[in-house]
Amino acid sequence: MNIVVGVTGGIAAYKSVHLVRLLTKGGHDVTVVPTDDALRFVGLPTWEAISRHPVTTSVHDDVAKVRHVALGQAADLVIVAPATANSIAKMTAGLADDLLGTTLLATEAPVLIAPAMHAEMWRHPATQANIATLRERGVHIVGPADGELAGGDSGPGRMSEPEEIADAAGALLAPGDLAGLRVVVSAGGTREPIDPVRFLGNRSSGRQGAALAAEAAARGAEVTLVAANVSADVRGVTRHPSVRVVRVGTAAELSDAMKDAAASADIVVMAAAVADYRPVAVSDRKLTKEAGGVPTIELVENEDIVAALAVAKRPGQIVVGFAAETPENEAEMLERARRKQERKGVDFLVVNAVGWEHGFESAENAVHILGEGGVVAGVASGSKRAVAAAVWNAVRG
Ligand code: CTP
Repeated sequence: MNIVVGVTGGIAAYKSVHLVRLLTKGGHDVTVVPTDDALRFVGLPTWEAISRHPVTTSVHDDVAKVRHVALGQAADLVIVAPATANSIAKMTAGLADDLLGTTLLATEAPVLIAPAMHAEMWRHPATQANIATLRERGVHIVGPADGELAGGDSGPGRMSEPEEIADAAGALLAPGDLAGLRVVVSAGGTREPIDPVRFLGNRSSGRQGAALAAEAAARGAEVTLVAANVSADVRGVTRHPSVRVVRVGTAAELSDAMKDAAASADIVVMAAAVADYRPVAVSDRKLTKEAGGVPTIELVENEDIVAALAVAKRPGQIVVGFAAETPENEAEMLERARRKQERKGVDFLVVNAVGWEHGFESAENAVHILGEGGVVAGVASGSKRAVAAAVWNAVRG
């Protein structure tokens, strides 16, 4: 595998010499991309000797080979070890003023960072906010360990040992548990037009569906994400070469796209919030008060898409439904969810409680996952990515 090891300017850079050695001994082709600061700790000849590749820090070398993006494009994994507080801030901001910065922006491969800094710098809200952002974008973080730091201090901030970083890299390069599977995930909320400027819709942001798609891709699946009016920030989450995005607006469009993708899928997940009804007639022109009186909008029921997908299931295909409920208590929520699971004929039903203040438009979620016979196959809370991981764990059994 092609691995890029970015080295930034911290004393732990000396430990990364051993990391590069472990990776090359493991049969990987390793290119080291140090920052200028890193070279003050460990010199360029060391990196060239240990990786057996030419090493540069500059975007202006080897321009004919478009090295500033080529390295990132060709990489199967990018590691940054040590990742200093400054380099973490630069990564978060997307700065690209050196070869490591451009490589990180150009890559679609998994990125693993091993933070190393003083405990105060690690605990600083700026660093913690940056780490949270990177995590949300799918960057993998190993460490830091709690232990002795340069200058005799101790606390969290010590770079993980090279063996631990190499193990984390190995886990990322191993085929995921969804490798070879095709999955289709719907996300967002449908909008049923009333007239050219108005619609019947709902508050679903599409973040949970996008997190399911991103997690499935990270685990090796080929993913189709059918996105209905998702909020703008979910686009970054699904920027993965194995995620294909199909945009839809109405329930009818969602139905067509889902049926199309489900025909060749192993797992179908309906996380989108579908409008149960649509206006019978859509006005060509904007409804206006000049017409007088209060308009009545006559509605007709939409197809239950997930129920239709469950009926049309291919042999061995798994169908997962979602339900957002407003119950009095957990027992009522589970009882409603079990009835819904049976009514819709889905293999799994992921249920969460929602209200005006929680559930929608937020980064966090808390769910119960019902499996065969309505038995609770998993419970998860936390970031939508963590919930997504729990859903795939339950589906994989
Ligand atoms: N769903 C669907 N097609 C619809 C409505 C819902 O495929 N027309 C799917 C949703 O994507 C979700 C599941 O069914 O996976 C449950 O959605 P929910 O709105 O809770 O179901 P409803 O049948 O509308 O139930 P309720 O009467 O509680 O609104």
